[in-house]
Amino acid sequence: MTDTLTIPRPDDWHLHLRDGAVMEGVLPYTARQFGRAIVMPNLVPPVTTSAAAAAYRDRIVAALPEGSAFTPLMTAYLTDATDPADIRAGFEAGVFTAAKLYPAGATTNSASGVTDLANVRKVLETMAEIGMVFCVHGEVTHAEIDIFDREAVFIERTLAPLVRDLPELKVVFEHITTEEAADFVAESGPNVAATITPQHLHINRNAMLVGGIRPHAYCLPVAKREHHRLSLRRLATSGNARVFLGTDSAPHAREAKESACGCAGIFNAPYALESYVTVFDEEDALDAFEGFASRNGPAFYGLPVSEETVTLVREEQQVPDTLELAGTHYVPFHAGETLGWKLAD
Ligand code: DOR
Ligand code: ZN
Repeated sequence: MTDTLTIPRPDDWHLHLRDGAVMEGVLPYTARQFGRAIVMPNLVPPVTTSAAAAAYRDRIVAALPEGSAFTPLMTAYLTDATDPADIRAGFEAGVFTAAKLYPAGATTNSASGVTDLANVRKVLETMAEIGMVFCVHGEVTHAEIDIFDREAVFIERTLAPLVRDLPELKVVFEHITTEEAADFVAESGPNVAATITPQHLHINRNAMLVGGIRPHAYCLPVAKREHHRLSLRRLATSGNARVFLGTDSAPHAREAKESACGCAGIFNAPYALESYVTVFDEEDALDAFEGFASRNGPAFYGLPVSEETVTLVREEQQVPDTLELAGTHYVPFHAGETLGWKLAD
């Protein structure tokens, strides 16, 4: 039995760091585990320009713990009015690593998102030309589409046609939650990749709804039926080089989650690697963990694999019920559970 796993320091290819005091509180958890992270731009107001992204990057770097080598990789929040010239300039200047599609109304702070992909066609053509990654929140938002079907319908109506029309564009289908998405990615060509969160590998929709409404298991896209979870576990552990780690860690204060209209998002950053490695261990696929966590993401983004390493050891640790950040309580993923793995210091 493998009890110790040493791998190149992983990156988080999808992360919400927020801003201000909350960012200062959550950043050390990510910087302890990961070398780089793709930082989501859904602040209020959203990070829509290269100037705003450069300023946000500076605030993150200034808040890093002493001696941390963590590198934030910035994203542009696309709107119907995004200027392709600013995307190109930001990418060429090394400010932007990727651009993010929030279909308008899909999730937290997505009101200024894109209402129709046709409105960002020039931006996407520019990105295809310069090799910039397009990160996609893949859900339709039409009121008549059931929330559990929104990802599958997005593939049919939006993603499959896009990939057909613009095959040179590098697309990351983020935080996939369905068998349809897993199949779509598995059957796609070299320019389509996916990230998978820890929660979508661990929980199905029962975790949210059985025995009472459990707001800390609620995120978007929402967890689906068990067969979807099982297909995500198969894909994550399959060794497919176009599938990699992206936590979608999305902290919201406890009272904002435990509310009549609770916020979507699971704060999984503090124990992210332990959470993922548990899945690979349960699937008897520890040999596939290094690719998923450390190698596939850099390869897709054209970035070097970390020269540092981290070590995970088979050792029990108790996850606290809450963590206090910026004077407020946050409930981490796996709160109150015992995890069987631990990141060595
Ligand atoms: O659950 C989610 N939370 N999904 C998202 O897409 C956004 C995120 C957030 O920013 O809270
Ligand atoms: Zn997200």
